[in-house]
Amino acid sequence: MIQLIRGFKDILPDEVGLWQKIEHTACDVFEIFGFKEIRTPILESTDLFIRSIGENTDIVEKEMYTFPDRKGEMITLRPEATASVVRSYIQHKIYSYDPVQKFYTIGPMFRRERPQKGRYRQFYQINAEIFGISSPFIDSELIFLLMTIFAKLSLDEISTKINSLGCPLCRIKFKESLISFLSEISNLLCEDCTRRSQSNPLRVLDCKVPSCKEAMKVAPSINDFLCTDCLSHFEIVKDNLNKLKIPYIVDKNLVRGLDYYTRTTFEIQTNLLGSQNAIAGGGRYDCLMKALGGPDTPGIGFAIGLDRLVDILSQKQKQPEEKIDVFIAPLGDKARIKAFEWSCSLKLESIKTEMEFSDKSLKSMMKRADRLNSKYVLIVGDKELDEGVAILRDMATKEQTTIQICDIVSNIKLKQF
Ligand code: HAM
Repeated sequence: MIQLIRGFKDILPDEVGLWQKIEHTACDVFEIFGFKEIRTPILESTDLFIRSIGENTDIVEKEMYTFPDRKGEMITLRPEATASVVRSYIQHKIYSYDPVQKFYTIGPMFRRERPQKGRYRQFYQINAEIFGISSPFIDSELIFLLMTIFAKLSLDEISTKINSLGCPLCRIKFKESLISFLSEISNLLCEDCTRRSQSNPLRVLDCKVPSCKEAMKVAPSINDFLCTDCLSHFEIVKDNLNKLKIPYIVDKNLVRGLDYYTRTTFEIQTNLLGSQNAIAGGGRYDCLMKALGGPDTPGIGFAIGLDRLVDILSQKQKQPEEKIDVFIAPLGDKARIKAFEWSCSLKLESIKTEMEFSDKSLKSMMKRADRLNSKYVLIVGDKELDEGVAILRDMATKEQTTIQICDIVSNIKLKQF
């Protein structure tokens, strides 16, 4: 039998309700905060991700699903959405109407990481991106938006880490200091970090290998190298979070796995997930738009890991049982023809209706109605048809009433569903 590809998964009908609940909650919040939905393709030109996420990141070096199409052009299954949303903003000159734009997008991303609980090769993100606002107030508002989504989903076991990565100017001196520190502790670093010390030293700050993590605890902090503007930006963000009563921890080593970030970065973590503890992450990327050939427009955004959020909420919250309103149990051919007519009419009235199509005993039809959690069962046999009536059974009280066939739909509509 052909099986799923490793790291990929089916989202089965029983699970879909929770996915939809999260998506609807997020969409409602986005609407209140003035966001519009955007949908971009899943396949993009490989260059887009190399130039945005960065050549020396784990995502680009090891995790992308990249292949030549039939004409040899290199294409990639998107590993994240930010680059695509920025590309779209530039390509369609959306800025010419108004440079300030707020977009959200929900969909699958692909990274060929080692699969484990909470880490998949196809996973889903809820993304938010804001273009054209450099004020630190919007950084705080975006974190507030994220907190609002989590609050509406009753998820409170979370912690927020924030940091500032400064601008390219602050980074020059910081990089020098970091490189010299890394050369002093080179014997303590893992193989990847030894390589990264040269190619992309900031990435070493992010390494999850315990020995590297320990060694980097005393690494120089970017916070000590921030220029006046970046420092004041960070202070305002923190001050606003205090005013909004959003608890946070400043983590000087939070650099995140993508190279486009400048200034504010943040990550939301939970201890309900094991080692894959990040449920959302984001930050500012003020140089990305220009680097991709667009106008010099600042940007900031985040992505929530939808799979991880579903994993947590399904542990925490029991999902309400699915119910239908009416199950029609016809006994005989004539009754089945009538039942089909009623079933269609009831659906038109938004009454959730199912019926039995095959010749089954009343007992087995009642069993199926039970399995479907039906509130009522409408029983009709050829004999009842001749008398112009049908029997409506309330499955909770077991009470049975005889109803007239001539106005059966309006009779059933009177019931409380
Ligand atoms: P990211 O931190 O790479 O950021 O991913 C965001 C979230 O996606 C993570 O916190 C995690 O919950 C989820 N995630 C990532 N990889 C996996 C995986 N393999 N399996 C399951 N969930 C995963 C970004 O992608 C940025 N584009 C966020 C952003 C938007 N920054 C600015 N705008």
